[in-house]
Amino acid sequence: MFFQQIEKFLFDDSYYISSNFFYIRIYRWNPSLNLKPWFNIFPMRFKKFKQLMILDLLFDLKNNYDSTLTFRRSCREGICGSCSMNINGINSLACLQTFNPQSVQFLTIYPLPHMLVIKDLICDLTNFYNQFRLIKPWLINKKDDISYKKEILQSKLDRLVLDGLYECILCACCSASCPSYWWNYDKYLGPAILLQAYKWILDSRDLNKISRLNFLKNSTRITKCHHITNCTQVCPKNLNPAKIITLLKYFSSF
Ligand code: SF4
Ligand code: F3S
Ligand code: FES
Repeated sequence: MFFQQIEKFLFDDSYYISSNFFYIRIYRWNPSLNLKPWFNIFPMRFKKFKQLMILDLLFDLKNNYDSTLTFRRSCREGICGSCSMNINGINSLACLQTFNPQSVQFLTIYPLPHMLVIKDLICDLTNFYNQFRLIKPWLINKKDDISYKKEILQSKLDRLVLDGLYECILCACCSASCPSYWWNYDKYLGPAILLQAYKWILDSRDLNKISRLNFLKNSTRITKCHHITNCTQVCPKNLNPAKIITLLKYFSSF
C-alpha cells in the first residue's frame, strides 16, 4: 500500500492535480558542499490555508523540514528590503507577496536573477551597495554655515516633491529585473540607484545638484537604460524608476 502511494505520488499526474497538495520548488546552493546548484521540491498540504505569505512559507519549511534553507529577512513588513527574491518568475518581497495554493499548485522561488549567489536565496549585493555609495547618498550642504548643524526645514511643497522617491527601500528587485543591468552591472548604475540619485537632486536641502547631475551626464551610468520598463513593473513599492530615469536623462543633458 505504501509503495503504491509512493508510485502514484511520483508518476501519476492526476494525483498532483486532484490532491490537496501544492509544491514549492526552491533553488538551493551551498558553497561548502562542493555540489552544483539543485532544486528542493517540498510537497505541502493546503487544507488549512487560504492565502499564504511567501515568507511564512519559507519559515515553515525552515522550521519543520530543512533548517539549512537560507534566506534574508528582517522587518516582515515590506520596509527593510532584505527578503527580495524571484517568486514564480517575478522579483518581489517575500513578506509582501502572497500565494493561493488553491488557484496555483506550483510555487518556484529563485534568488534575484543575475546576481552572484552567496547561499540558497541570498545574493551578494556588494556591487549594488558600492554603486549606491558612488552617488553620495547623504545630504551635502554648506559646511561652514553654522546652521548646518541645525535642522534644515522644508516647505510642504519641497517635501511633496520627494513622494514616489523616498519610499524606495533599496530591495534591488528593479535592478535585478533589468536586462541592461544584467549585462552592464559594472558600467550602468541601474534603476534603483538612479532613483535614489534623483531623490538627492530634488531634495531642497541639498546644495550639490550640479555636480550630482554632472556625475551622470552622458555617461554609461545612465545611458545604458533602454526603457525596457521591467523595473517599474516589478517594484513592490509601486514606484516608477523608468519614468524617473527618463526625467534624469533629460535634466542631466543640459
Ligand atoms: Fe526596490 Fe522599488 Fe526601490 Fe527598486 S525602486 S529598489 S524595486 S523599492
Ligand atoms: Fe532597465 Fe528599467 Fe531602463 S528595466 S532599461 S532600467 S526602464
Ligand atoms: Fe523586510 Fe521583507 S522582511 S522587506
